[in-house]
Amino acid sequence: MIDHSTIQRILDSADITDVVSEFVTLRRRGVNMLGLCPFHNEKTPSFTVSPAKGIFKCFGCGKGGNAVNFIMEHESLSYPEALKWLARKYNIDVVEEEETEEQKQLKDERESLMIVSAFAQKYFTRNLWEENEGRTIGLSYFRERSFRDDILKKFEVGYSPDGKAPFTEAAQKQGYKMEFLEKTGLSIKRDDWVRDRFAGRVMFPIHNLAGRVIAFGGRILKDDPKAAKYLNSPESEIYHKSKVLYGIFQAKREIARTEKCYLVEGYTDVLSMHQAGIENVVASSGTALTSEQIRLVKRFTPNITIIYDGDAAGIKASLRGIDLVLEEGMNVKVLLLPDGEDPDSFAKKKGASGFREYIDENETDFIQFKTRLLLKDAEKDPVAKARLISEVIRSVAVIPDTITRSVYIKECSKLLDVNEEILYTEVRKQKHKQNEEFRKKEMRGQREQSLNPTPGPSQKQQPEPIPAEFLIEELEFLRFLLKHCNTVIFEEEGENPNEIVEVKVSEYMIDELENDDLVPGNPLFRKIFYEVKDNMDNENFDPWKYFVYHADAEVSKLATDLLSEKFIESKRWTKAGAFTEKEEEILDYLVPRIVYEYKLMRIKLMMAEIELAIGSASKENNFDRIIEEQSKYMNLKRVEKYLSEKLGSRAIN
Ligand code: CTP
Ligand code: MN
Repeated sequence: MIDHSTIQRILDSADITDVVSEFVTLRRRGVNMLGLCPFHNEKTPSFTVSPAKGIFKCFGCGKGGNAVNFIMEHESLSYPEALKWLARKYNIDVVEEEETEEQKQLKDERESLMIVSAFAQKYFTRNLWEENEGRTIGLSYFRERSFRDDILKKFEVGYSPDGKAPFTEAAQKQGYKMEFLEKTGLSIKRDDWVRDRFAGRVMFPIHNLAGRVIAFGGRILKDDPKAAKYLNSPESEIYHKSKVLYGIFQAKREIARTEKCYLVEGYTDVLSMHQAGIENVVASSGTALTSEQIRLVKRFTPNITIIYDGDAAGIKASLRGIDLVLEEGMNVKVLLLPDGEDPDSFAKKKGASGFREYIDENETDFIQFKTRLLLKDAEKDPVAKARLISEVIRSVAVIPDTITRSVYIKECSKLLDVNEEILYTEVRKQKHKQNEEFRKKEMRGQREQSLNPTPGPSQKQQPEPIPAEFLIEELEFLRFLLKHCNTVIFEEEGENPNEIVEVKVSEYMIDELENDDLVPGNPLFRKIFYEVKDNMDNENFDPWKYFVYHADAEVSKLATDLLSEKFIESKRWTKAGAFTEKEEEILDYLVPRIVYEYKLMRIKLMMAEIELAIGSASKENNFDRIIEEQSKYMNLKRVEKYLSEKLGSRAIN
């Protein structure tokens, strides 16, 4: 443990520019520094360092933080490791805090368990390659399954000889204490006998992030329907099953490089994928995914693809677990293998390029996957469909990022053929429910704590306020408003003869919405909208700086995401083949379009609401109301037609 005052000294000395400059060439850009992001591939710099604030932020990939975070991220270090790295750089002596007797004992015990595990791994591996029994039984098993030697060596697999306790005896002969052999679960001891847990099995050591062996999985080789196919080490001081992913040590570099992680079920799946050249893969070892495991992956990438066996009967059951991944803010994709295949068999059948091709063609976005899967059962049954909608929306509601959520809502609205407004209402309901559940759990926790006043392990924060929901069209509107704020798009004739007035993007966009009274109720939107308006006459107003460094964290987060090109709906214009110009070059065309699309969306939503109102009015035989709503509807219909024509698409019905 590093003592508090040393940590403070390290934090005070660590100059962000200085630290980042060790790895990135920075150029001055105004008050900030700019360079090529070390965390993702880019050709134009979007990685900025703010010396004044002591932080870095990449507007391309979104990574950001202080000097310690930078070192953690860049060097794949833990927090204390990063602090020590910085201490070395600044010649600060690290005073490790005097450990209590209890801490020391625990540390010694953990160390002893790791040492025993390391010995066991070497013993099993030596047996596999050098002993007769190991070679004829263990090695030939792996060879039969066509595993290459380099893969077997990379994963340090081994063989635990058959018999009562050959391993335990060898370990004791080498001076390893029974206490630790027992605590790692390698040996099983009763009053009058001892035996090896894994006797006669091939061994898959499980490594922690740093590459030390902390546990084993052992596969049976005999045909014995009564015995488990795989046997795993029990929980111990060094092995907490729910926090470990098999293969993370061998995969971490490749996960960071490719910015992607594949998740499979089994040990052999991991090995086979490595053999096929796909090294960014980890296994959950057959159990349901936990949030700790997800956070482990998240240290290296936000992108995870879950690979399911072709015969996966349990897919529906596992859908719930995937919400956990979404909740962590990760992008989840799903890949379903053909019938009867698992990653191991499929990788061997297809080889590297065939497997990759299959992945590229068949990987689907999780929300889409879930929707399609459930839709199959619900197509003709309205009750089932309603259940499906709330089921799918439950997954959408846990996604922390506003923009991602909006993109999904739009997608679901298309897939499910349901009005967006209905989905937004459903998201709000779900969020409310999730917050309530969170609150209840917190209260229960507090009650338990007051009964048992030892500090709990995780003091969770307050439930988050329910974030505002956005339509894609609103986000796109805001993006243009912020990004192109000061650009002149039109010249208009002024009041005096020959007077030419320049119209800026912000003026045009703000006027258009205000004149039609279409500024939405969404508080975050309003805040940004009116703050741009307040600054419209300010020559030096730089919306980028103003909003990205905004005091309101929600505003700053949204602005950063919008400006970082993470979200570009307007790709559809270039994709359509109509325009290959850059956004900046066709603003006079794009900005009015953005405004019309926004208005059209709002009009459609209003019409949907009126339809509902007409529905309930006719149930009540309230004819005055029906007539009134219908005339509103007709007016909106005209506006809809007008806007659709402006946008060059036919009005729908
Ligand atoms: N598993 C386990 N205990 C079992 C069965 C399975 O812990 N009795 C875990 C193992 O981590 C295993 C994973 O679940 O790797 C997937 O199980 P399964 O698909 O049955 O095994 P495979 O990985 O396909 O193993 P093999 O190819 O060797 O049969
Ligand atoms: Mn298998």
